[in-house]
Amino acid sequence: LTVQNRLYLDHAATTPVLPEARTAVAQALDRWANPSSPHADGRASRAALEQARRDIADALGWRHDIILTSGATEAIAIAAARARVAGRSFSATEHDAVGAAMGSEATILPVDEAGAVDLPQLRAALSRGPTLVAVQQVNNETGVIQPLERAMSQFLIDILAVVVIGGLIALIYIAVLDSMRWG
Ligand SMILES: Cc1ncc(COP(=O)(O)O)c(C=O)c1O
Repeated sequence: LTVQNRLYLDHAATTPVLPEARTAVAQALDRWANPSSPHADGRASRAALEQARRDIADALGWRHDIILTSGATEAIAIAAARARVAGRSFSATEHDAVGAAMGSEATILPVDEAGAVDLPQLRAALSRGPTLVAVQQVNNETGVIQPLERAMSQFLIDILAVVVIGGLIALIYIAVLDSMRWG
């Protein structure tokens, strides 16, 4: 097998960026002034940053805060810390960063032989009270698409945070049943 005819089959983990994304990153790097500085260059950086937040919100259809972080571990930790509910659950196939953020008391939800989270177990976890649930929309190793839409229509759960990892398709949806509180 030569380099030319190799097939890359790990796009669920990471995939090349679109040309538009490459251009946007290059433009952002050229805007190097501190967005917290009050001078003209700083204000221009701030305006670009806020525009980026609006663009992300529009692309995701998201009406709440957009928090930009250095990576997924930080994002997951912030989401877990801000959910003011006692219950914590995550699927058995989540990244280690999720387990670290959710803590040792959290319920680990089993997955079936296809890698999809077990919905009756998810329902059981949610029935024990307001619960923060972390399940990736798409698993970064197996590529399995989790039945989150079915879970949402069946169990009345709401998405409270969407953690987007470097623009990948692997999203982590964090959901809480009913009377959720979010700080
Ligand atoms: C699904 C998933 N979650 C979390 C992480 C941790 O991300 P980071 O290294 O940006 O903290 C990764 C990294 O590969 C990941 O694939």
